[in-house]
Amino acid sequence: MVSYVKYLKCSRCGRVYYFDEKPIMCKGNDLGRLDIYYDYEKVKEVMSKSTIAKRPFYLWRYRELMPIKDDRHIISLGEGGTPLIKASRLAEKLGLRKLYLKDETRNPTGSFKDRGMSVAVSVAVEFGFKATVTASSGNAAAALAAYSARAGLETYAFVLETASYGKIAQLLFYGAKVFRVRGLGREDPTVKMMKLVMEKYGFYPSPSFGPFNPYQIEGVKSISYEIVEQLEWTTPDWVIVPVGSAALLTSVWKGFNDFRELGFISDIPKLAAIQSEGNAPFVRAFKEKQDPHSIKPWEKPNTIATGLADPYPWDGDAGLKALYETKGTAETVSDEKIVEAMKLLASLEGIFAEPSGAAGLAGLIRLLEDKVIDRDETVVVLVTGHGLKDPDIVRKVSGDAPLINPTLEDFEKALKEYYNRK
Ligand SMILES: Cc1ncc(COP(=O)(O)O)c(C=O)c1O
Ligand SMILES: [Zn+2]
Repeated sequence: MVSYVKYLKCSRCGRVYYFDEKPIMCKGNDLGRLDIYYDYEKVKEVMSKSTIAKRPFYLWRYRELMPIKDDRHIISLGEGGTPLIKASRLAEKLGLRKLYLKDETRNPTGSFKDRGMSVAVSVAVEFGFKATVTASSGNAAAALAAYSARAGLETYAFVLETASYGKIAQLLFYGAKVFRVRGLGREDPTVKMMKLVMEKYGFYPSPSFGPFNPYQIEGVKSISYEIVEQLEWTTPDWVIVPVGSAALLTSVWKGFNDFRELGFISDIPKLAAIQSEGNAPFVRAFKEKQDPHSIKPWEKPNTIATGLADPYPWDGDAGLKALYETKGTAETVSDEKIVEAMKLLASLEGIFAEPSGAAGLAGLIRLLEDKVIDRDETVVVLVTGHGLKDPDIVRKVSGDAPLINPTLEDFEKALKEYYNRK
């Protein structure tokens, strides 16, 4: 029974908390994130490159860098341990020397959010909660619902009206009480409902952004640990990260920082944050050098990448810091370019991603064109969510497959008319 967490510290007011106090949000009501600090010296005593290598390849391989105290509270579905795929065909097409895809679609519910929710729900169990509540565009809620189901906790999920049916379907069958919330007014309607319900009923808040729950970031940071291991304890030049709330970006940065503190690596890659043109508050904040603690929200998010549609990047403060400290960058991509990236991923590398999941690749293509990224550099693109989450997009872009009678004649006719093949 041991936790290596030294303390938690509010990112806004600096107030310090200890894990035994079961903190979740800052008591100062300032919506600061309780950043978690570990006792690296103690971690070093039990965690080395060789001890890690002996453990199963999934998230809890990095147990000492996770916040919980009692292993009996771990709620796992085998998350993490995803492949880092050398994308040779795609690299050749883009003229890159070394391109890798971190395939997060392989997680239990089909997105990287499983990493965060495995840890967040384990903490909920450790803290003794019986119900969880979330605000989400869909993926984080689906992950929370799956892990809550496994832990025997109830889940209340408030999702955007635009949430894709793939995600709603998961939520309903995992047994969550799901509500699609209409957008009225300026505030994110799902966050508004999560706050109201959490305050009234005392449920455990577990969205995938830091100010309402600091623990999920700890799970997501394992993406970076795995990348380092999969590159034989080296780091790439760039990691390309799709951004909504910027919790993923913050987590990726934290993961590399942890490994540097432990002496496992010496450099941290440059991070590139990618948003959709139709919702880019974080990219705008980076380009305009806005105050990290008062990033201007986007007025009317409008993009097929619904996972990136947060009008306000809740972890934008840490996200901006990550870009400044790694000498990274931020850029937007259009919905059309996202669809092109989805097609490239699927047709050249066999990876079917949802729009938010392919936005990173669209971003890489733009940054290569803009000569921000050099073709000799080593690049890792995070592919964050599965294409089956949002099959309607594919129907809209490609239509349906042709329907034929079981004859060669019909086959050849359809081949010609539909696939332009003689
Ligand atoms: C598939 C996918 N990719 C990327 C993101 C962006 O992550 P974050 O909101 O942590 O920036 C999300 C968030 O919902 C997502 O669902
Ligand atoms: Zn505070």
